[in-house]
Amino acid sequence: MAASRTIRDAPRVTTRGVDMPAPVCFFRLLLVQMVLGPSLIRPLESPLRFADQVLFATGGGSGIAAAVARRFTAEGGRVAVADLDEERAKAVASELEGAIGVACDVSDEASVQAALQLVVEQLGGVDAVLSAAGHAGFGPIEEWSFERWNRMLTVHAGGTFLVCKHALPLLRQRGGGAIVTVASVSAFVAQRNNVPYGAAKGAIVGFTRQLALETGPEIRVNCVAPGRTQSGMTEPIMVARGGGDMAKGAEVFGKGNIQKRVAAAEEVAATICFLLSDDASFVTGETLVVDGGEIVV
Ligand SMILES: NC(=O)c1ccc[n+]([C@@H]2O[C@H](COP(=O)([O-])OP(=O)(O)OC[C@H]3O[C@@H](n4cnc5c(N)ncnc54)[C@H](O)[C@@H]3O)[C@@H](O)[C@H]2O)c1
Repeated sequence: MAASRTIRDAPRVTTRGVDMPAPVCFFRLLLVQMVLGPSLIRPLESPLRFADQVLFATGGGSGIAAAVARRFTAEGGRVAVADLDEERAKAVASELEGAIGVACDVSDEASVQAALQLVVEQLGGVDAVLSAAGHAGFGPIEEWSFERWNRMLTVHAGGTFLVCKHALPLLRQRGGGAIVTVASVSAFVAQRNNVPYGAAKGAIVGFTRQLALETGPEIRVNCVAPGRTQSGMTEPIMVARGGGDMAKGAEVFGKGNIQKRVAAAEEVAATICFLLSDDASFVTGETLVVDGGEIVV
């Protein structure tokens, strides 16, 4: 009986409202697959999105960039954890398979070049870049010296420029890649006593958009603008706000957004890793705000 079954007897499948026998449906899908290419069969969330890739991550000794280093290596990649604080960079790297810790002051061109050279020697090249090194700084504008202002702009905007400038030839050697810069919600909303930081972060948003045009289509360049996130930078602020109690301070610090809390560094890292990965293959020149809804309320 079974041998005499025809295609009309086969189980029927409905695709886009068209009822057809399952074998016909299968061959149609196969045809679509052959025409559109293998990208369609790649799972959307491959557990090894960064296999065989090397990430150069500045600010990697702490907070958000350290969380990116953990996620990137967990998904098959290798990371150069670069930081002004070499000891912290090496401590983070020592816990991750395939990672190295590198001393790097992003505000010093020779230091950036030396760090990248070391990465090429030890890891063979660079496929992805995270420019996250930075520091906070508050106070009324009249109280800021020009030197302090310059330091803020030099570390954030200047450091992003230097890291991208010297990493670009390495990415091109590998046929392309992805860059993620880090701004802040301070680039979009006014916050009291935060003029130099907001200006520096605004520069990074503009830099990212311009660089995407200059380096595409081979290299994608995107920016992440975090809201209040628990990290080495914000923990002292939260302790102060909580009168010495960090949990209490975190509550106060995080209550201005829709989620009513501060982010974990891992939540910002997840968005950065999305932008570094092929999951974001059609995203470039964009700034993604990761702030629990802070700037929409
Ligand atoms: N945490 C937040 O709430 C928040 C919000 C918005 C934006 N950001 C941005 O995220 C990025 C990461 O900050 P984080 O919150 O993880 O802070 P973090 O202090 O935990 O990490 C920053 C790291 O950058 C390093 N660094 C500072 N100056 C450097 C330099 N000149 N060269 C190399 N490394 C240097 C520090 O040593 C530190 O390890 C920063 O650019 C910060 O401005 C943070």
